[in-house]
Amino acid sequence: MEENQAGITALVTAYSRAYHATHDSPLIFNDFLADQLFTPQEHVFFDRTIAGLIKVIAPELEVHYTDQAAALAWVMQHHSGPTTLSRSRYGEDCLEKAVRQGVEQYVILGAGMDTFAFRRLEWGSSLHVFEVDHPVTQAMKRRRIAAAGWALPANLGFIPVDFAQEDLTDALKNSAYDPEKLTFFSWLGVTYYLSRAEVAAALRSIVRMAPAGSAMVFDYMDPEAFEPDKAGGSVSAMRDITRQTGEPMKSSFDPDGLAQDLESLGWHLEENLSPSDIEERYFSARDDSYHATEHVHFAMAIKE
Ligand SMILES: C[S@@+](CC[C@H](N)C(=O)[O-])C[C@H]1O[C@@H](n2cnc3c(N)ncnc32)[C@H](O)[C@@H]1O
Repeated sequence: MEENQAGITALVTAYSRAYHATHDSPLIFNDFLADQLFTPQEHVFFDRTIAGLIKVIAPELEVHYTDQAAALAWVMQHHSGPTTLSRSRYGEDCLEKAVRQGVEQYVILGAGMDTFAFRRLEWGSSLHVFEVDHPVTQAMKRRRIAAAGWALPANLGFIPVDFAQEDLTDALKNSAYDPEKLTFFSWLGVTYYLSRAEVAAALRSIVRMAPAGSAMVFDYMDPEAFEPDKAGGSVSAMRDITRQTGEPMKSSFDPDGLAQDLESLGWHLEENLSPSDIEERYFSARDDSYHATEHVHFAMAIKE
């Protein structure tokens, strides 16, 4: 990730959650705090910029969407919203199950503008929450938290790490993280931006630092997302846009080989949701245009 572009994708995903919470019904994921992380000027900027993506994603539709609000709704529903909303919901659904099974720590890897620790203060207070992120993104988030006037919850810790340069084990060791406690790791919207070697290194680090029975959720792209003749329009646009903003997508995993890949790293694949599974679970009861994103999968694994 280039320093001057740090965290752009984290801002765009948070903006999609803010938009959804303030414009849509029913809600796939209710991030009622995300809106407060943006200034009024940024609202104007993101509304205009995201609406303008219709030119890139579906140039043939631009003439029909001359109204900015309509173009913005189209881009949110067809492009920016579905992955971030459903994976955030999946992560917290899995977390709730894990807490019922005794998890005491929640480590959010590549946390971006995640608001869990502030949004679910009461329910989440029994958990020690750690936000791990690229130092530049994390510093930018902390400035936004201060600007929003949010008090830092006592159970929240920040751990700055560049996964491409540093070992996650060392970073966790130097924090209040307790390697003896059952832990739930979420890693949402991050594997795409790392090489397979960096993903494997992080998974090995987590295995060394968590007791058996700890859990992890993550989302990943399948290899067809990187094949120009097979990738759908939304995923191709996502790859183009992230490349232009300095956070190129780098890796994919074969859904059929994932269990074996994880097994070799010390993880048991517990659940592996395809785009059609995600559609059925989180989008089937809607009458708008939010649908699961093709080539994007969600997985949950347990440390053996
Ligand atoms: C698309 S955002 C996802 C943020 C959040 N998890 C979400 O779902 O909204 C990608 C996140 O990965 C982080 N990231 C990307 N490359 C990284 C790296 N090399 N080291 C640490 N974090 C990284 C970014 O800082 C950002 O917070």
